[in-house]
Amino acid sequence: MVNAKGPIGVFDSGYGGLTILRQIRRLMPQYDYLYLGDNARAPYGTRSFDIVYEFTRQAVRHLFDQGCHLVILACNTASAKALRTIQQKDLPQLDPQRRVLGVIRPTVEVVGDISKSRHVGIMATPGTIRSRTYELEIAKLSPDIQVTGEACPMWVPLVENEEYDSPGADYFVRQRIESLLRRDPLIDSVILGCTHYPLLLGKIRQYMPQGVHIIEQGSYVAQSLQNYLLRHPEMAERITAGGTARFQTTEQAEAFQAKAAVFMGAQLEAQRVQL
Ligand code: DGL
Repeated sequence: MVNAKGPIGVFDSGYGGLTILRQIRRLMPQYDYLYLGDNARAPYGTRSFDIVYEFTRQAVRHLFDQGCHLVILACNTASAKALRTIQQKDLPQLDPQRRVLGVIRPTVEVVGDISKSRHVGIMATPGTIRSRTYELEIAKLSPDIQVTGEACPMWVPLVENEEYDSPGADYFVRQRIESLLRRDPLIDSVILGCTHYPLLLGKIRQYMPQGVHIIEQGSYVAQSLQNYLLRHPEMAERITAGGTARFQTTEQAEAFQAKAAVFMGAQLEAQRVQL
């Protein structure tokens, strides 16, 4: 494992984490970033706990080998199913000086200030919903909030297959929003608990009733990372600051480049890697 300074590693099962990387780079353009998408094995959202943990551990290990001292799991499914075990079991063995952070905690930290009715909805992959991580984390910070989780198994495939503007997307977005609000009509805030979902934001806004606050996590994750680096200057010092972003994928580089450009809003070059 390289001990010299390195980029911030950003990991997702596929393209979704690019919505997080985009916000992080907007806030902290000075750093170098290395994005890894495990596109060959995405989606993670319907996979078992053990498999998501194993894949995520391989990804973290790879990013550490590439010189990253700090890795962001820009994937709710990986944050829900693998983060804690990686932090507690793997990091002490791999390198206790390195850090792995997730996207759920920074999102949960803002919800107490946003919801007035104290009824909050979570829209996420079946894996994230089944893990109940959002419920548990919200209960720690805002125990008076009632949380209702809605699994949206079709939303990631719609995004991965570039169907986010199609009539099919209207059907599935509307179906899940109506189901969530039927289960708890008092919900006034909905967390988009999957990093793919910002691509469906147009349709989500269209079907979400006026007055329901849609919580997108990218900017909160970026803000929380900036605060973390201010509180941990020893980590900030270990990050190279050349202002670059590199992209790696476990799938074909050409396919990744074309789709990732939509998420990032800019052309990019990717390299295929094996985990
Ligand atoms: N983008 C990931 C998340 O935030 C999930 C995508 C997947 O199912 O692989 O949960």
